[in-house]
Parts: sequence; structure tokens; C-alpha cells
Amino acid sequence: MNINALVRPEVRDLVPYKAEEQQCPIKMDANENPYPLPKPVRERIAAALSAIPLNHYPDPSAAKLKALIAQRIGVDTGQVALGNGSDELIQMILMAFGGSDVCAVYPVPTFSMYGIIAKSMGMPVCEVPLDDKFDIVPDQFPTKGVLLLSWPNNPTGNCFSQERMEELIAKFEGIVVVDEAYYDFSRKTFLPKLAEMENLIILRTLSKIGLAGLRVGMLVANPSVVREIEKVRLPYNINSYSQVAASEVLSDPGVIDAQINLIVEERENLYYRLRGLRSGITTYPSDANFVLIRVKDAAKVHQGLITDEGILVRNLSRPGPLENCLRITVGMQDDNHGFLVAISRLTRML
Ligand SMILES: Cc1ncc(COP(=O)(O)O)c(C=O)c1O
Repeated sequence: MNINALVRPEVRDLVPYKAEEQQCPIKMDANENPYPLPKPVRERIAAALSAIPLNHYPDPSAAKLKALIAQRIGVDTGQVALGNGSDELIQMILMAFGGSDVCAVYPVPTFSMYGIIAKSMGMPVCEVPLDDKFDIVPDQFPTKGVLLLSWPNNPTGNCFSQERMEELIAKFEGIVVVDEAYYDFSRKTFLPKLAEMENLIILRTLSKIGLAGLRVGMLVANPSVVREIEKVRLPYNINSYSQVAASEVLSDPGVIDAQINLIVEERENLYYRLRGLRSGITTYPSDANFVLIRVKDAAKVHQGLITDEGILVRNLSRPGPLENCLRITVGMQDDNHGFLVAISRLTRML
């Protein structure tokens, strides 16, 4: 049987999203929160999980979790839809508002799943290059389609300038998605714009703030948009364990909020110390929980960090704007220090 001949052509040509599978003692590659939950919180979660009746389906609307999330964001529950990670919400948005004659419009480089999901659904894509400061150039964007803007942008780390964002989204006639996956570290948001823009969707996630294993993404939009999204949501997409564990953490969020503050402090530290190294490293400003750097030989530095120090970072190097770029997720204080010592040594040897 020739499976290749059976698969949809747009899927045949796709390359799967490549999550890092290499095991390393110090993980600074996946934009996760490096701090574990404290033992008392884990014990509270374990007790709550053990009471779940696994013979029953989860709460189909994840009502308790949704209420906690709406409260945290400061919106009504009717403005919220939940996904199995914000990846699933991106897929749901394109299912509801995309199509073979609707373009997925996004700047490049950006989060690779925008293109992967759009292409897998047979949508044409319009990729608009960022300028040399990794900012958007509004004039170069079309005005129709589904616009996807990662703000802060993964993997460059910056928020595109506010004025350019406003100019671009004001003239865009289709659905505008502002993906605020890193909002907790940038503390900048387009949420207030929902009052005047019915076509705006904001995405957030619990993945970056300590609950990546639960796969909970959040969509915030006007109720008219949320109703359409709900039509394409698969039943029970948020499993019982995730609903209960996330609700436990969010009902007393002081712990994760303190961790977020630590990460922001450490990001600033990491950024300024990298800038001070003077060993041929270009360090880009970041509003997220990671920092993008450019070195002379990314492959060598990436491998050196693994073999010498057991530190895994993300190697993004390929010809083009990310040539020789590495993305460093902010780690715990000691790990950041170890990373700085190691990169200083490795880049001086190049
Ligand atoms: C910009 C952006 N959006 C969405 C996601 C996906 O997040 P989730 O874990 O909620 O699917 C990521 C993860 O890296 C991201 O960087």
C-alpha cells in the first residue's frame, strides 16, 4: 500500500513540529517555568486528583476552571474558551475562521505552529518578514485573512512596537489573533481592545507559568466569537486531571505569581550579563521568559553546552534571520549562572 499516495498533498509536504527529546539535567530549551510547585501544593493536588471518578467523562464545559481563569484575566466566562494547550485553540480558530480560500497571515520568524496548523488544514499562508529589529512592518501585510501575532514574539522575545501593532490590527479586516502566551512576563496586553474590536482574539496559556504538563490554553474574545469557536471544540477537550489540578493551583495563585516575578528578575539579570560578556554574542531584548542570542557558531555552542555542562538550549539556526541563533529559556538562578560561565568560555574559544 502506498500511503504517500493516499495522504492529503498539503500534509504530505509538512514537516512535524520538532520538540526536543534529548534528556539533559538542565532544561533551558522549551520556555517552561523552571520552578517546581512546592510540596504542600503538590500534596493538595494529589489529594484532589485521587478523588476524581475516572469512570466518568470530565465536566464538558470545565466550569470551575473556566471561572477561575476568567477571574484571573478579569473577563466574563462567556468570553472564554479553553483548549488542550493554546496549540489546540489555534487549530480551532483556523477551523472556524479559516478555509482553503482564506490566508493565514503571520510575520516570520514566529511560532512555527501557525504555519504547520494552517498548512495541515489546506490554508494558504502569507509569511511577512520582520525588519532587522524583529519588528513588524504594517505596510507589508495584506488586510484580509486570519492574522496571527505572537506578542511577545516567539522566538525573538520582543513585543512588536505598540504603534505598529495598532496600525496593523486597525486596518485588518479579518480575524486578528494576538497570542499572548508570554503575557505574564511582558505584562502588556491588547485585552482592552476587545471592547471595540469584535474580530479580536487573545490567546493565553498556563504552559509558560508552571503547568505545561496539564495542557491548558485560554482564548478570550467577544461572546459572538467564542460561540463560533465552541462549535468546533471537541467534547471533553480538557481532561479531568487537568481541570482539577489547574483549578487547585489557580484557586491559590500566590505561588506561581511569585515564581513569575522571579523569572522576570532573572531574565533581566541574564540579559544584562549576556550583554556584558563581549565575546561576540549579540543579545536581543526580551519581554518573555527566554532570551534570543546570536553567536558565531550556534551548532558548536549548542553541543558544547550539552556535553560540557548538561545544559540544553534551543538551537534555531538555519539560513536567514535566525542564522546562528540560540534561544535560552530563563532558568533558576544557579542554572543561569552556570549557563553564563559556560557560554562565556565556549564563545571565547570560537
Ligand atoms: C507564541 C506561542 N503560542 C502558543 C504556544 C503553545 O502553547 P501551549 O503549550 O499552550 O500549546 C507557544 C509555545 O511555545 C508559543 O510560544
